Order: sequence, then C-alpha cells, then structure tokens
Amino acid sequence: MINAKLLQLVVEASNDGIVVAEQEGDDNILIYANPAFQRLTGYQVDDILYQDCRFLQNDDRDQPGLAAIREAIQNGRPCRQIIRNYRQDGTGFWNELSITPVFNEGDQLTYFIGIQKDVSVEVEAQDRVLELEAEVAELKRQLTQLQEKS
Ligand SMILES: Cc1cc2nc3c(=O)[nH]c(=O)nc-3n(C[C@H](O)[C@H](O)[C@H](O)COP(=O)(O)O)c2cc1C
Repeated sequence: MINAKLLQLVVEASNDGIVVAEQEGDDNILIYANPAFQRLTGYQVDDILYQDCRFLQNDDRDQPGLAAIREAIQNGRPCRQIIRNYRQDGTGFWNELSITPVFNEGDQLTYFIGIQKDVSVEVEAQDRVLELEAEVAELKRQLTQLQEKS
C-alpha cells in the first residue's frame, strides 16, 4: 500500500488541479487545493479555502455543463464536463472538470474530489476545425453554383 507522504508528493506533482471539497449547506467548500490549481487559476490557495469553486465562473453562469454538474453533485454521482472558467486576472480557459464523490464506511458522502484540466488548446482547435469545415462547405456550394451556370 502506498504511504501517505508519497501520495501527497504525487498530488503535489500533478499537472492538473486537484481539490477536495466538503459539503456545507448548498455549497461544497474547498478544504484542499494542490499547487497546479494555484498555477491554473492564479488564485493563492490560502485566499480561496472554504469557498465554493463557483467563483471560477465569474458571471458566466448560463452554461449547460453547470446544470449537469449541479445534478450529479445533488445525487452524489461522479461527472465530467468541459466548462468556461476565469483566472484571477480575468482571462478565460476551458476546464475539463471531473468530480468524484467519496463515501465513508457507513456509505455517507463525505467529500468530493475535483480534477481540473486546462483543455483550452484542444477546444479552440476543435472550434477552428468546425469554422474551416463551414468555410469549405460554403466554397463547395459556390463552386457548384458556378458549374451549374457555365
Ligand atoms: C470538488 C469540486 C470541484 C469543483 N471545481 C470546479 C471548478 O474547477 N470550476 C467550476 O466552475 N466549478 C467547480 N465546481 C462546481 C461548483 O462548485 C458548483 O457545484 C457548480 O457551479 C454548480 O452549482 P451551483 O449552480 O450552485 O453554482 C466544483 C465542485 C466540486 C464539488
């Protein structure tokens, strides 16, 4: 069995954000955030402890992925969604967020673990591919029109 010290090193060495949250009323408040979370979001860990992670959304709250996250949390189920988040300096990034519930021996939900992966490069590349596909489709349409006329 891996010892606690080694496990801590693993979590601290992760390139992805790793947080632990516990339920308090309607919120799930952060009780741990690793250094990668700090690098990704620009927030100092000490400044965001005991807050719910929704502060990363700023005013961008009308996202379909958030409804799915809310439902999974309410039902104590795991989920994975790509959502828009904002760093402390206001710049946006695409966060592939995985949330996993943790249960104790009495089967009570005790914590949620969250893993934040910055997938901005992938999402923006995918958007560009869609734009280019639309441009190609339009050019094909124009070409067909020209061929029909000639
Ligand atoms: C462990 C954990 C990690 C979370 N991490 C993030 C995050 O990185 N970014 C984010 O926008 N929301 C995150 N959330 C989701 C929000 O805390 C919140 O549950 C979500 O906004 C839906 O609830 P609300 O509609 O009450 O805000 C996380 C939730 C949990 C439980």
